[in-house]
This record gives sequence, structure tokens and C-alpha cells, in this order.
Amino acid sequence: MTVIDTRTQTAPQRTARTRHYLMCPPQHFEVTYAINPWMNTQVPVDVERAHVQWEVLRNTYLSLGHTVELIEPMAGQPDMVFAANGGLVVGKRAYGAKFRFPERTAEGVAYGEWLSEFGIDVFQPAQINEGEGDFLALKKMILAGTGFRTSLEAHIEAANALDRPVVSLELVDPRFYHLDTAIAILDDGHGDSPAEIAYFPGAFSRHSQRTLRDLFPNAILCTEADALVLGLNSVSDGRNVVVPSAAERFSEQLRERGYNPVPVDLSEFLKSGGSVKCCTMEMHR
Ligand code: ARG
Repeated sequence: MTVIDTRTQTAPQRTARTRHYLMCPPQHFEVTYAINPWMNTQVPVDVERAHVQWEVLRNTYLSLGHTVELIEPMAGQPDMVFAANGGLVVGKRAYGAKFRFPERTAEGVAYGEWLSEFGIDVFQPAQINEGEGDFLALKKMILAGTGFRTSLEAHIEAANALDRPVVSLELVDPRFYHLDTAIAILDDGHGDSPAEIAYFPGAFSRHSQRTLRDLFPNAILCTEADALVLGLNSVSDGRNVVVPSAAERFSEQLRERGYNPVPVDLSEFLKSGGSVKCCTMEMHR
């Protein structure tokens, strides 16, 4: 009897596309306030360790052949390391960020200025939104989260600013307060293959679970255990998926689908409710 390995038989060939990222060095990273359930000002951050973990992430992108730009960190802005929140860049345009909590307001301004200086046309938002924390860009649409941070009005504003259709999704579990804690874009649909995502259904309202099922019937469904180590807060180039190392089952699921999981440990950033994707703004050029 011949044993057929269905995994190697069915897993499609994945193709990487070179990406352009913006990151912010963790110079001033700490937990001095609590604006999500992961943050506890009594739990100290190991600053040395955080710096090493962040460097490993940056070097991982570089070794995969991607470009990483850096923004100057600002004293007094401990969450600025979470570059994903600084805006949503699509092509030569960006939809600027406007943070929910006053603690992070200054970051929106700094990221907006950086993007402008970089030659990107930045739309100044009137509505509360936290950039790529809640907006995930695919070729044909932008997935947008609401419920905790980004307002529903911002979804319409972003659609107009970037001239792309937006699909609104409702987050209902405070542990998954940003869309990028509950969905990972694995393939953005720019190449020959259809868009592919992974998500944790429990983070969404019933109608949004249905939207996701209808739009992405082949999505990877992530376990709650993996979602709770922010496994979905990962960054894919279409083939290599930089994924929080604690999300072991998710890495296996990625492999089964033909992706190459690249585990990195960002445990110090988990103390602030962030991981790989949070530390990374992708400039979707
Ligand atoms: N402490 C930060 C906050 O609560 C974490 C931001 C994480 N960023 C993200 N893209 N999910 O705002």
C-alpha cells in the first residue's frame, strides 16, 4: 500500500513579494498606562530583552529581502514602537491615524509627518482610527475593524480617502481590540492566487463571522490558544509568514498550506498587547 502525504500533495506553491516596512525602535517602550486588557503597569517590561527581540524582528525582515524604514522614537510615547497604528498606506496615498486615547495622540502627528516627508500624500482624518491596527489592505478591498478603537465612520472616510472598498467587521472581545490581533493576511491577492487570510472567529460578532466565512471560505481558522498569544499578529510576504513563536499550532497550519512560518519571540511586547504585526507598518506600494 502506498501512503500518500496529503499535505505535500495539496499544499500550493507560494510566492514571496518584496515588501516595504516602517518600524520604530523601542527606545522608549514601556507600560506606563493601561488601555487594553493585556497592559498592567505593575508588570515590568524587560527593556534589554525587548530591544533584542525587536532587533531580531527587524533583521528577520532584512534577511527575507524586505526594506525596513525607521522613524525616530519620541520620549514619552511608549507605544510608538507599534508602527502599524501610525496610518494606512496604499500606493502613494495614506489615510492618517487619529488615536482613540489621548496617551497616543502625538504619535498620529509624528507618523503623518514622517509619511508626508517620505513623499506620501497623507489624508488628515476627522474620524478616530488606528491605522493598520484596524485596517488590513488586500488588493480588492480593505478589511476594517471596529468595536474598540477605530470608529465605523472612519471606515467610510478611509474608503473615500483611498478609493478602495472597505468591509466593516465588528470586534466583540476586548482581548482582540484591534483587527490585526484577530486576522492575519497571508496572501493579499496581488499575484495569481486568490486572497487568503487566517482568523479567530471568537473575536467577531456573529454577522461578521458570517461575512468572513462568505468572503474567505478557505481561511485558516486559528485556535483560541494561538489567538491568545497573538499568533494572528503576524506579517506575510505571500510565502514567508513572520509569526509569534508561541503560536505553535498556527505555524503547523501555515506549513500545511504551503507557507513558510518564520517564528520570532516578541514576548516583551505582549505585555503591551502587541506582537509582530503591531511593530510593523506595511507601506502597500
Ligand atoms: N499598547 C498598544 C495599545 O493598546 C498596543 C498597540 C498594538 N498595535 C496593534 N497594531 N494591534 O494601543
